Amino acid sequence: MLKVRVPATSANLGSGFDVFGVALDRPADIITVSQAEHTTIEVRGAGSQFIPEDPDSNVVGAVANALDAPAHIKIDKGVRPSSGLGSSAASSAGAALALNTLYERGLTRHELVPIAAEGEAVVSGDAHSDNVAPALLGGFTVARGESVTAIEADIPLVACLPEIAVSTRDARRVIPDSTSMENLIHTVASAATLTAGMARDDPALVGKGMDERIVTPARANLITGYESVKEAAFMAGATGVTVSGAGPAIIAACPTATRRQVAGAMVDAFEQADVAARAYQTRISAGATVYECE
Ligand code: HSE
Repeated sequence: MLKVRVPATSANLGSGFDVFGVALDRPADIITVSQAEHTTIEVRGAGSQFIPEDPDSNVVGAVANALDAPAHIKIDKGVRPSSGLGSSAASSAGAALALNTLYERGLTRHELVPIAAEGEAVVSGDAHSDNVAPALLGGFTVARGESVTAIEADIPLVACLPEIAVSTRDARRVIPDSTSMENLIHTVASAATLTAGMARDDPALVGKGMDERIVTPARANLITGYESVKEAAFMAGATGVTVSGAGPAIIAACPTATRRQVAGAMVDAFEQADVAARAYQTRISAGATVYECE
């Protein structure tokens, strides 16, 4: 038997749609695997009632097939599904690492990224790797097709999760098919600024680089209270605020000194919009960890 702790992740960071991702130090899933003749799946924890246990429908079933590694897979969800915090990616990446280790397949973490991304295709229709890459590799990741670059970065963050659900499929449907050259230039400028901020561990640059005008405004409409939560976060000291992944979580970058106030302000603003929410005071972290073998 083998256990893996795999972190929540936040994809896009505004300007890096389907490209940027970060591993968060909390929340996290715990995946336990043991060898079996056929794959069976057991799911517990946050939102487990909404997650299928049938291997043909669960993301980890696709991963077990891809690695030819049948197992009993127990998933303790700390990352709620439909949260925008990489719930399906946590399961896929955790299962990929756990089964690769259990069956001694010998693949590197980089080689596991496309395998874990197959799990994402089960949920959203697209095998995008911007959540599974940081879940496996940790830090800040840039996915460019099959190639993924990971760098260590230390940025304080708040991930504020309202008690509403947004499906990734729905959030992908609202994205415009095309955009103006002006918006394209703005996005590239923001993405480059954010990347420089990650390299320098600079929350001000990272926050500035989260600004984006194509995908984020379309998705913000799916999140009750988005504009007031964003404004409250900025007022409390955030340097940048955007939709986390497909939403509904909202992610804010900030200096450590204002993180607590930013978290409180975001929760209060959601409450004023009649939406219950919780905020994780977090930061960029390491990727999945194998921490127990028997
Ligand atoms: N890049 C993905 C999206 C992340 O924004 O749709 C969510 O799975």
